[in-house]
Amino acid sequence: MKVLVTGGAGFIGSHVVRRLVTNYPDYHIYNLDALTYAGNLENLRDIEKASNYTFCKVDITDVVAINDLFSKHTFDKVIHLAAESHVDRSIEDPLAFVKTNVIGTMNLLNACKETWKHNFSNKLFYHISTDEVYGSLGEDGLFTETSPYDPNSPYAASKASSDHFVRAYGETYGLPYIISNCSNNYGPNHFPEKLIPLFINNIIEMRPLPVYGDGKYTRDWLYVIDHANAIDTIIHNGEVGSTYNIGGFNEWQNIDLIRLLCKIMDGKLSRKQGTSETLITYVKDRPGHDKRYAIDASKVHKELGWKPSVTFEEGLDQTIDWYLSNPKWLEHVTSGAYKDYYTKMYLS
Ligand code: NAD
Ligand code: DAU
Repeated sequence: MKVLVTGGAGFIGSHVVRRLVTNYPDYHIYNLDALTYAGNLENLRDIEKASNYTFCKVDITDVVAINDLFSKHTFDKVIHLAAESHVDRSIEDPLAFVKTNVIGTMNLLNACKETWKHNFSNKLFYHISTDEVYGSLGEDGLFTETSPYDPNSPYAASKASSDHFVRAYGETYGLPYIISNCSNNYGPNHFPEKLIPLFINNIIEMRPLPVYGDGKYTRDWLYVIDHANAIDTIIHNGEVGSTYNIGGFNEWQNIDLIRLLCKIMDGKLSRKQGTSETLITYVKDRPGHDKRYAIDASKVHKELGWKPSVTFEEGLDQTIDWYLSNPKWLEHVTSGAYKDYYTKMYLS
């Protein structure tokens, strides 16, 4: 079986690639990635020489390159993760999100449709999406697979649009697809622009911890290895034409999570308790900031038997240990262009 994973050099994609390469020696895993600022082949050093793994440096917005790749290989399954993924960057440059998340997805859908059109059997386009397409929850309730789409950020709107195109290709052309919408991931290899890795890095460096607004925004956190496990379960056992919501059953207000992070890191860095909390700095809120996300993951649990394998405390502990043990990784990803990004977003 030939499996194409797009965005496999990114945070979640690298965990998916590692899992498939390691657990399925009979499959050949192709990792397509443009290696943007978020793509990093260091994430896959341990498996890059595996005989069932091939890396292809391709940009999904480049229709010629996509069609060329699909003319060389008939992929059986496509797991599509490549995307611009950071909400704050989408506020700065929404068009970049339309190009990659919408047009890039269209290029892949068209390539699958053309390559598979004479025989869709045993083929699958598996689109990895986000709970942000559903917008924001109030104090109560959970997002289910039937929650209406109500995206608020340019990132969320671009992901919602790509979800709609995937479903439309299923309805119109019979393309076999599955979509999963997941909550916030955390774990090793997370680029330090997102809350948890940014704050871990800033605590290490004793830099301010920029809390948006009043800090009372809520997210539902899932360990990235459990997301990769869910993707593995769904690609093998999910029902074609279905949507699955994936979440951690694990809601945290930002400020509570940040205080926990500070406490654990003071312990691990042998600093006096309370040291890291002094870094907390309330800053201007994110425009269009969604108040609360929380996923009802009962469908994937009941139908496919998936549930998270680690508690948040275990996952966070392992995550912090990974960052403390991999200073070179952090150093590499925070040199160069990262410095300009950090200055623009937080220091100007
Ligand atoms: P990431 O930003 O860490 O990685 C994205 C990867 O896509 C990078 O390797 C990058 O090089 C690649 N990429 C970007 N533009 C590309 C292009 N034009 N062509 C080819 N490759 C390109 O993102 P992530 O956090 O790993 O998210 C992966 C997917 O999961 C995304 O589709 C995202 O919307 C979705 N998702 C993420 C989360 C989360 O909490 N991180 C939660 C739910 C869903
Ligand atoms: O819900 C799934 C989504 O989770 C994914 O689809 C996105 O790709 C992923 O980036 C993530 O989006 P969020 O916007 O929720 O994640 P982020 O880490 O950027 O922010 C988490 C919360 O922390 C949010 O309420 C904003 C806040 N925050 C974030 C940053 C970067 C701060 O208070 N300060 C910050 O500096």
